[in-house]
Amino acid sequence: MSSTVHLSLGFSFHQRCSSFFQQSVAMALSLVHSTLFSKTSQLFLHTKTGFSHFSSSIPFSSSALPSNPKTWRRPVISALELGGVKIARDDVVRDDPTNNVPDTIFSKLGLQLHRRDQHPLGILKNTIYDYFDTNYSNKFDKFDELCPIVSVKQNFDDVLVPADHVSRSYNDTYYVDSQTVLRCHTSAHQAELLRKGHTHFLVTGDVYRRDSIDSTHYPVFHQMEGFRVFSPDEWEASGVDGTSFAAEDLKKCLEGLATHLFALEDKSIRLLYVDSVKISGAVEMRWVDTYFPFTNPSFELEIYFQEKWLEVLGCGVTEQEILKRNGKLNNVAWAFGLGLERLAMVLFDIPDIRLFWSNDERFTSQFSKGQLGIKFKTFSKYPPCYKDMSFWINESFTENNLCEVVRGIAGDLVEEVSLIDNFTNKKGMTSHCYRIAYRSMERSLTDEEINGLQMSVREQVQSKLNVVLR
Ligand code: PHE
Repeated sequence: MSSTVHLSLGFSFHQRCSSFFQQSVAMALSLVHSTLFSKTSQLFLHTKTGFSHFSSSIPFSSSALPSNPKTWRRPVISALELGGVKIARDDVVRDDPTNNVPDTIFSKLGLQLHRRDQHPLGILKNTIYDYFDTNYSNKFDKFDELCPIVSVKQNFDDVLVPADHVSRSYNDTYYVDSQTVLRCHTSAHQAELLRKGHTHFLVTGDVYRRDSIDSTHYPVFHQMEGFRVFSPDEWEASGVDGTSFAAEDLKKCLEGLATHLFALEDKSIRLLYVDSVKISGAVEMRWVDTYFPFTNPSFELEIYFQEKWLEVLGCGVTEQEILKRNGKLNNVAWAFGLGLERLAMVLFDIPDIRLFWSNDERFTSQFSKGQLGIKFKTFSKYPPCYKDMSFWINESFTENNLCEVVRGIAGDLVEEVSLIDNFTNKKGMTSHCYRIAYRSMERSLTDEEINGLQMSVREQVQSKLNVVLR
């Protein structure tokens, strides 16, 4: 198990994982995602960037940095359109204790990277569409424009997430108000689509989770949800019960999808190493039993790729209760949720998740429509700059809150925030030392700029998190 590298899909709904175990694995392996289940915060912390607000129609570009960073302020968009609906910034980012959406997150709403045919995420989405269209004669309805602002009911209750589940906390999820969130998974749309009568569907969209910062974590990422409903005649003839039938079909479908994606990938590798390396097109994969509130049984699919086991998706047989509540009394169904960034990082060799958001031509020009698995060539790697910061934490301190503060100031210039020292003194006070790695993917940062950022981080960590700097 310790040799397994997990590419999980952001925080996990696997309540049964040991957080300690996961955290030590996370430290050992750079691609690992540490679970957030260990950190249920009671505290609500409102983090606002404090940047001055420009009004309206500034393009959503986040990477076009100014020549003089000192005078530059992150533009804040006042309104955007989502699926024809105009959403004002003030509706989503509010100075109100039931709201924890910062401007940095608001600025990502509506960008819809997964709808760009020349973007790695769009290319991957389209390749998955091709697989389903070909194998299921266009039976799957596709949705990729559903609004990411959903009700707590849609995001949690409708998929049976228990009332005390950690994923509901303000520490893990972005709340617009007490009843409205930025969806943290595409499963939020299962119930409404079932009620509308859909029996085969794929939902692709941006999802939002408060999270730590490193090369495989970003508070906005993209998922694709798959859902298939069976009627009794489909399994009755087979002689097995509905649940086993659906589980079997689910595994077959996803193994086929993985083979489809990695076989395309394998071909490009094969071209590079003709004769010298194993050229078998076989993709090794394995199923791992797991837990989700909305499926039973539940599985993860891991793929052996570049000498590591990668977790690429979560799935399972849908809880009967979800079907029953949504007008599918006599049916069974399967569902899966796949993290597009993690899969795209592997397929395209993209080393840092921030790159997906880059408008730098040296990134965007490397991908073309329909070309899965083209290897990304890193443009000059600028050096990182590390800054350490120690403080006495208080009871309500959480790493997600710290990361939100850091990201609010440094945006995508922050590459990683890692805990490098942790001790408790005789008086019972606990000190944490964090190392912040600053690095731009696109240019060299000056000392002056980094010192300025670090100074603001220190100030805001103190004032917003109420910790005592050492
Ligand atoms: N929604 C789950 C997640 O985000 C993934 C999933 C989807 C698992 C559907 C099972 C079924 O982690």
